[in-house]
Amino acid sequence: MDLDSLKTELESNGQSQLLRYWDLLDTNSQEKLYNELKHLEYSNINKYFKQAMESLNHASDKIDDLLEPLPATVCGSVTRSSQEELKEYNRIGLEEVGNNRVAVLLLAGGQGTRLGVPYPKGMYNVGLPSGKTLYQLQAERLLRLQRLATQQTGKACTIPWYIMTSEHTKQATNDYFKQHNYFGLEKENIILFEQGLLPCIGFDGKIILANTDKVALAPDGNGGLYRALRKWNVLEDMEKRGVTNIHVYCVDNILVKMADPVFIGFCRTKNAECGAKAVEKTVPTEAVGVVCKVDGRYQVVEYSEITLKTAELRQDNGQLTFNAGNICNHYFTLDFLKHVSQVEQENQLKHHVAKKKIPYVGDDKEVVKPTEPNGIKMEKFVFDVFHFADDRSFAVWEVLREDEFAPLKNADTAAKDTPTTCREALLNLHHRYMLGAGSKFVHSDGSSLPDIPCAKKARESGDCRKGENDDHFNKCEVSPLVSYAGEGLTELLDGKKLVPPVQIVMGPTDSEPTILQDITVNGTAS
Ligand code: UTP
Repeated sequence: MDLDSLKTELESNGQSQLLRYWDLLDTNSQEKLYNELKHLEYSNINKYFKQAMESLNHASDKIDDLLEPLPATVCGSVTRSSQEELKEYNRIGLEEVGNNRVAVLLLAGGQGTRLGVPYPKGMYNVGLPSGKTLYQLQAERLLRLQRLATQQTGKACTIPWYIMTSEHTKQATNDYFKQHNYFGLEKENIILFEQGLLPCIGFDGKIILANTDKVALAPDGNGGLYRALRKWNVLEDMEKRGVTNIHVYCVDNILVKMADPVFIGFCRTKNAECGAKAVEKTVPTEAVGVVCKVDGRYQVVEYSEITLKTAELRQDNGQLTFNAGNICNHYFTLDFLKHVSQVEQENQLKHHVAKKKIPYVGDDKEVVKPTEPNGIKMEKFVFDVFHFADDRSFAVWEVLREDEFAPLKNADTAAKDTPTTCREALLNLHHRYMLGAGSKFVHSDGSSLPDIPCAKKARESGDCRKGENDDHFNKCEVSPLVSYAGEGLTELLDGKKLVPPVQIVMGPTDSEPTILQDITVNGTAS
């Protein structure tokens, strides 16, 4: 340990308070603290803090005058494309997958503070009939997609799964996959790497001590991806494998279509290097970031950055002018990622700042949990690299929210984005898959159940017609091993009468889908 040079460095950067308890620590704790402190880049941290405070001072400034809507040339939409176009995008995407040119990259380094469980969000079980966790659903989607691509190309293929973790999630994620035998995927095709951490800083610019021997550190945001890609040589690994298309997504969207061939096909058709999936923002006040242009550059703008007047602007057809809600679902080419991950580009991405209540060690060496914000956390965001794209290289693909977006953010005590809303979104989608494949839902006496759920309000006030409030829409689940996006079910389900709850699972031989029901029509146990 070179304590003297550490002391000098801390003093010259105004951070000597970090050694405040040094003399009270035993040798082990001293070593632990020393190892943390010697890796921090103090002059950069002070620089980030200065920029962060400036941006906080301008937090209420609005950028309305700089905003431009997306040019029609970069946009495409599931609902406004013909069946032929969608089929062609799908074919192109599957061709890329089948030729081992597609990887998925999961952002899973967040602390999930709002959900409030002590393990990584991907391990969360929202209470589906199958009991599958977010990670299991994702793994099985990959397995199915590989199979679909093989059917098209006739070649065996792999979609490598890169998972960005952080100090908070790495070990548990690693253990979880191992414990579940990688859910049938090959171990070497699941590549975990770790994002960086940044210290939390008090409003006075001093780095906060979480304990006498520990700095308060937090992950550097999902935009910490670009630095982590460089540090762990992830792009070199992709290149070695021949990957050229990367689908980046967040861990918490239960409906995520990983490596979605339609999205990939669309982006490739547009020759895009950087693409975003979006859902239509329905009401002006919805708190979702929108993809648009700011001062001529592509960006995601938060609701708080614009006035209500701008948020309410509408086009001639009645749609909101700024309506491309960002759902953290991005397409990048390998070349684009190589470019934006270079130090020069990555340094241009500014930190976003959030005031937080950061636990700290007090004068009596006890940890204090503040009731008011006492400092800031600094984070980069994954979408900030849109800045480096232009009209020729950017693409936005609008999808249906009910098919593709249901994030898990909060515990069930909240009104939205909870385990319950996620579970219902997935089961509703699967109910529609089953109807689309030609089945009908019935009571055990054979009488019909309605296809369309009774609105929640009507259900609560008892205004539903008979059978509508049976809630069977929330009892139908299709294993991703059987179907990735509703395909492949007709042969099994066409003309079938199903009594919910129903699960469609892959049979024991892993080739034959099977219907699992508690009872069948006329009450016979299956
Ligand atoms: P959120 O911003 O919703 O954060 O992350 P979170 O950590 O899941 O939840 P809260 O805010 O603490 O309640 C969106 C996505 O970005 C990832 C998350 O894992 C999630 O997939 N993320 C977030 C990272 O990978 N690293 C980070 O530093 C932050």
